[in-house]
Amino acid sequence: MLNIILLGAPGSGKGTQSDMLIKELELVHISTGEILRTEIQNKTELGKIAATYINRGQLVPDELTVDILAHTLDGCKARRGVIFDGFPRTIPQAEELKRLLNDGGEDISAVMELKVEEEELVRRLLERGKQSGRTDDNEETIRKRLEVYHAQTAPLSCYYIKEGKHHAIDGTGTVDEIFDRIKTICQTL
Ligand code: AP5
Ligand code: MG
Repeated sequence: MLNIILLGAPGSGKGTQSDMLIKELELVHISTGEILRTEIQNKTELGKIAATYINRGQLVPDELTVDILAHTLDGCKARRGVIFDGFPRTIPQAEELKRLLNDGGEDISAVMELKVEEEELVRRLLERGKQSGRTDDNEETIRKRLEVYHAQTAPLSCYYIKEGKHHAIDGTGTVDEIFDRIKTICQTL
């Protein structure tokens, strides 16, 4: 079973590359961001709480995202593997994911970190914001999301380097070029 984490700053291409990978490898795509946006759209209690964090560019509390992740994983038992997009985002989330997978006799196969310069990230997200309708795609919130990424999520690189699972990927160039880089690593797994 392939369990791949796509790590990377906002706008680094996690969603774009996940869409291509699930087609190629027939994996399940779990994006906690997408799940939370659906909850917001459906005006659920969870959605109302999540919106207060997402609209400010902050992380939703670990208890909530870990619950969502556990529930979603449980719902896709007969799977070939999973692409984790936007989870984990903190060390406690990483510990919890490890525990959940290990409990089911599985493990993380690889962590691919998409590396993109900050100004390119801002450019991509501002461009997407013209059409996306995402409430967090405005300059102020984008800058906050990047700040939160550096403070809370970037330490995961070291965490996964120590676990021997980390692969750095140049996240610039065309979507196809980046996809080829990811596939090359997948072939070694
Ligand atoms: P989430 O939805 O995960 O958003 P994000 O991490 O901010 O990342 P994005 O979805 O904006 O970017 P992406 O890396 O997917 O890039 P994409 O492929 O779209 O999370 C949103 C919020 O939810 C968080 O801020 C947090 O509040 C909350 N949340 C979610 N998970 C959480 C968790 N685990 N814990 C706590 N809180 C959580 O690409 C971006 C744009 O660039 C697109 O327009 C795309 O077309 C374009 N693009 C892609 N590749 C290229 C390329 N090679 N060249 C040029 N343009 C490109
Ligand atoms: Mg995304």
